[in-house]
Order: sequence, then C-alpha cells, then structure tokens
Amino acid sequence: MRTNIDHFRPVLVTNTPAETEHLGELLGARLKGGDVVCLSGTLGAGKTCLVRGLARGWGAVEHPTSPTFTLINEYRQTQGSQRFYHVDCYRLSGMVDAWTTGLEELFNPVDVIVIEWPERILDLLPPDRLWIDICDLGNTSRRFTLAASGHRAQLLAAAMAPPPKA
Ligand SMILES: Nc1ncnc2c1ncn2[C@@H]1O[C@H](COP(=O)(O)OP(=O)(O)OP(=O)(O)O)[C@@H](O)[C@H]1O
Ligand SMILES: [Mg+2]
Repeated sequence: MRTNIDHFRPVLVTNTPAETEHLGELLGARLKGGDVVCLSGTLGAGKTCLVRGLARGWGAVEHPTSPTFTLINEYRQTQGSQRFYHVDCYRLSGMVDAWTTGLEELFNPVDVIVIEWPERILDLLPPDRLWIDICDLGNTSRRFTLAASGHRAQLLAAAMAPPPKA
C-alpha cells in the first residue's frame, strides 16, 4: 500500500481486494458514534469491499454483504447498543426516496454510518463527514482519496495518513 499527502487529502493505493479490506479495517477501528463515511466511485470500484473491512475493524459480529437490494444493512457489536449502518443509495431515484426511507434518522450521535453512492443524498448529509473517492486504476489497483469536512472527519483522515516529513 502506498501513501501520499496532498494538503491533508491523503491518497492511498491498494493493489488487491485484501489490501482494500485491510485499509477499511484500519479506519473502521477508529470509527466512533456519529461518524459519517461517504464512499464514491464507479460500479465495481471497491466500495463494498472497503465496507467489509470497515465493519470488521469496527467490530461487527455479522459479515457484511452488498446491500444492493436492501438499501440499509445494519451491524452490531458483541456488546453495546451502537449500530453500524451500511447504506447503498444506488437505487434511490432522488431525495424524495431518501426522505421516505427515513434515512435521516440514521444520522445520529450514537451510530456509525457508511454510505455508497452518497452523491444521491447530498442534501441529507451532515457537514461533518469523511469522503473517500475510489478510483479504479486498472487491473486490481485502486486509489483512495480522502477528503474531510468537519472536525471528526479531519481526525479520521489525519489518522490514515503518515506524519509529514520534517
Ligand atoms: N484493490 C482492490 N480493491 C477492491 N476491490 C478490488 C480490488 N481489485 C479488484 N477488486 C475487485 O473489484 C470489485 C469491487 O467490488 P465492490 O462490490 O466492492 O464494488 P462497489 O464499488 O461496491 O460496486 P457497486 O457500485 O456496484 O456497489 C470486486 O470484484 C473485487 O474483487
Ligand atoms: Mg457496492
């Protein structure tokens, strides 16, 4: 895995699905209640693959699968009432759909929410969020560009980047 920093927009490259899951695991272990992670990227970029790692790192007891047909997958930890919501907005036709599914209730200070195709619910997203754009570089290489808005997201982004060289 390679890492660079570009004005606090950490860029990471993985070369296998396993590396992507590992990256997710590292970030997932840092997630706290109220954290919002948005995953953008084309079909097959690796969003769900990253979510598998995120959920594992967070401590989910069930193994996450693609929520393509269910919109929301909910995961629990062995103990505690915090939830990890994995939301896939691909099939949402617009904001009206988003409101009618009650998605806004998932944005709360207790739970963690990870969203695929977040650009479909932009108006619903809280200002503090970590945005990860995934780019398919060909073969099995994927580039992850992290962009933080808000305090919590900045902490998460910084944690994923190595300390700057003196
Ligand atoms: N470095 C990599 N990281 C992640 N996935 C990879 C990588 N290299 C190859 N792949 C493959 O790319 C695919 C990623 O699928 P995944 O379901 O995670 O994509 P997605 O972005 O969630 O797509 P969708 O928008 O359809 O939900 C898998 O088939 C996986 O094996
Ligand atoms: Mg997916």
